[in-house]
Amino acid sequence: MLKKVIIGNWKMNPLSLKEAEKLFTDVAEGMTQIKKTEIVVCPPFLYLEKLKKISKKITLGAQDASFGDTGPFTGEVSGEMLYDIGVRYTILGHSERRAMGEDNSNINKKIKASLSAGLRPILCVGEEARDASHSYFNLVKTQLEECLVGISKNSISKMIIAYEPVWAISSTVNRHDATSSDCREMYIFIRKILFDRFGPDAESMRVIYGGSVNEKDAEDFLKNGGVDGLLSGRASLNAKKFTDIIKICEALKN
Ligand code: PGA
Repeated sequence: MLKKVIIGNWKMNPLSLKEAEKLFTDVAEGMTQIKKTEIVVCPPFLYLEKLKKISKKITLGAQDASFGDTGPFTGEVSGEMLYDIGVRYTILGHSERRAMGEDNSNINKKIKASLSAGLRPILCVGEEARDASHSYFNLVKTQLEECLVGISKNSISKMIIAYEPVWAISSTVNRHDATSSDCREMYIFIRKILFDRFGPDAESMRVIYGGSVNEKDAEDFLKNGGVDGLLSGRASLNAKKFTDIIKICEALKN
């Protein structure tokens, strides 16, 4: 049984270090009874080092990491630098970054660089919209195959795949709710692609769901969506909502 993981993606929030420390401390204080669930918080880069000192119960993740390790890459932050200050995960290929021009080939380079720096990539995939002919399945398949080119079987247990249908993400214009059955169907599809690519070793990868998850539907996604965890954006900015999601996960039988 894979350990369930709840990940908070703070995106470009909050506006000050003081607010970041308060939010992180409030989440950490709500975690005293949590034993089975892994908790990862991904704040903006510049808060990472300060937050690291607040709690050992929460693992820190970045929201991106460079394809390079060191050198003339203005504005980039490398996996080595992140690992050195205690960061252990990084989100890669988030739809908001894909919308800024990142493609599967860039993401593939970032996955490789992150793995060699010791970071665990959280690879986001998901379609922008659904169509009657179901071509969105092909899109997710292509995202997975192209992002995972050249990744060896030995590394895959370090990776998490986050299925995030872009149309269900809270910031999306005309957002629609995804259901746990949408999630379940895609979960099975992603598992099949991973199995075809890596064989039985693919079972060591966690496949999680993200897209406006909140404390009201987290249980449904976890129980009926079949996933190994959740990636939460907006709800993770509210310590009470985020800790409620973690507690719901912790209370599940398996
Ligand atoms: P959301 O964000 O929970 O606000 O929809 C999820 C994400 O974009 O990772």
